[in-house]
Amino acid sequence: MTNDSTPNTPREWRKIGFIGTGHMGQALIQALVEGGRVSPAKIFATNRSPGKLKKVQELFGVTPLATNEELIDKCEIVIIAVKPQDLTSVIEPIASTFLPNQIVISLAAGFSLRSLQKLLPKVKALIRVMPNTPATIRKAVVGYCLGPEASAYGPMMEDLLSPMGLVVHAPEGELFEALTVGCGSGPGFIFELMQYWQEWIEEHGFEPEIARQMVVQTFLGAAQLAVRAEDTPLHDLQERVVSKKGVTAAGLQSMRELEIERALRYSFEKAVLRDQEISRGTAKD
Ligand SMILES: NC(=O)c1ccc[n+]([C@@H]2O[C@H](COP(=O)([O-])OP(=O)(O)OC[C@H]3O[C@@H](n4cnc5c(N)ncnc54)[C@H](OP(=O)(O)O)[C@@H]3O)[C@@H](O)[C@H]2O)c1
Repeated sequence: MTNDSTPNTPREWRKIGFIGTGHMGQALIQALVEGGRVSPAKIFATNRSPGKLKKVQELFGVTPLATNEELIDKCEIVIIAVKPQDLTSVIEPIASTFLPNQIVISLAAGFSLRSLQKLLPKVKALIRVMPNTPATIRKAVVGYCLGPEASAYGPMMEDLLSPMGLVVHAPEGELFEALTVGCGSGPGFIFELMQYWQEWIEEHGFEPEIARQMVVQTFLGAAQLAVRAEDTPLHDLQERVVSKKGVTAAGLQSMRELEIERALRYSFEKAVLRDQEISRGTAKD
């Protein structure tokens, strides 16, 4: 790593290293390169197995490195994109090679800034990022929170992450938990609902292929309507579908009687509890 001062604005970005080029590592590399934020020549990566590393080299022109030590030596910004359960074993052996002026960004769900600081006592600027899977098509909601010594890096993070989709700053705690569950896990919950929808349509006689398309287009159409009418409350958009004593009204009344909202809230809170358990290190398998 050079001795130049730590990058502060996107223009000053120098080298960015990815430890892990799985789903999220690849999504972020793709967004950075295709969004024109960083030249591929400034992106370096490692991965445990060689196949994915070769793929990001071929697809995005980033430079593969043989070891994590080499990557830390080269890069001012190090993005850790390994699974949370691997994070400690990946970082512990290389922790002493980090320099105090490096910026370390962790994507690991449930791994708090405090736990990161314990693992990386030498590093001052620690940042957490919470993407979701639509990052792969640059339609993510991606949240970030800044460690106490990283407060100056908000603009840099906004610029770094914006090619992935909507960027939201959320301090660690209740806000970051809500973002983790509502958006990080969100696509998982939405796909659960979409499967119920598809099954019900199929049960009424449609073939699976067209039933799938019908559901996807219904979700997409509703979401795009909401995007177009961004100043309109969601409730008002819903009202446009509902006529008094009509078909939709009957379905909605039943949804409310069955307390679908309560069931969803309960599920979200369960997910928050799990996130808290993982953060505290008290999670049972
Ligand atoms: N997927 C999501 O929806 C989502 C949402 C929010 C946050 N995240 C976070 O994003 C992070 C990455 O998740 P993911 O879904 O991208 O997981 P993933 O696809 O399993 O990617 C993790 C990558 O890390 C590599 N790796 C493991 N040990 C390594 C080491 N010592 N050195 C270099 N690379 C190593 C793995 O290599 P192999 O090729 O050997 O497996 C794998 O390619 C996680 O911390 C997760 O919490 C994911």
